[in-house]
Amino acid sequence: MRKKIVAGNWKMNTTLQEGVGLAKDVNEALKGVTPQCDVIIAVPFTHLAPIADVIDQQKLGLGAENCADHAKGAYTGEVSAAMVASTGATYVILGHSERRQYYGETSATLRDKVALALENRLTPIFCIGEVLEERENGTYLDVVKTQIEEGLFNLSADDFSKIILAYEPVWAIGTGKTATDDQAEEMHAYIRKVIAEKYGQEVADNTSILYGGSCKPSNAKALFAKPNVDGGLIGGASLDAQSFMGIVTAF
Ligand code: 13P
Repeated sequence: MRKKIVAGNWKMNTTLQEGVGLAKDVNEALKGVTPQCDVIIAVPFTHLAPIADVIDQQKLGLGAENCADHAKGAYTGEVSAAMVASTGATYVILGHSERRQYYGETSATLRDKVALALENRLTPIFCIGEVLEERENGTYLDVVKTQIEEGLFNLSADDFSKIILAYEPVWAIGTGKTATDDQAEEMHAYIRKVIAEKYGQEVADNTSILYGGSCKPSNAKALFAKPNVDGGLIGGASLDAQSFMGIVTAF
């Protein structure tokens, strides 16, 4: 059966020293509990190797927030999937709405990134989600379906089974405005149906679909109680070990 997962996305926050401190705090806090979910932190590239050195990855998975859409070569400033993997990280967030919105990521570049991540044995956490206008004009289900079809449906069933999905309605990210648990459940159930139609019910049932967008200790329990919500991708609330643990222990 699919995994329950709580993953932090630190975004462009924390200096290296602050980040190593935060990772140590989360690692320490996890020693005292037996979480009912996998716990992951996705951190800036600069932080990956030093954090890999100080955490127990059996209890706390480590990931990057992006990787390049080329394997190697003359792409100044880019960081490849192989480089990410060489730090000891095993996850990578791909297609976050902030990357789609501010850095022009398209489904075509995302297909390349997913392929390179998988080649390097990184587990992609693939993000999808509609903007407010699409929520309000009622096209949100179609928008998310298209993002999944264009970004992922070129994969074999075997490769698709390695993907974690994260539904993050853009209007709920960093706004304090969470999707209601019913809104999240509606979308997650729909996403699972879309996957089942392409890859069959077993693959769909085994796919973890996380919710992201102003998820915090106070609303995590209700969200995670929904049958198709398999955990969370946490931004702001993952920057404090105590609040992040408050979400981890919501399972
Ligand atoms: P917030 O939890 O800060 O709304 O961010 C969600 C997110 O974008 C995680 O990837």
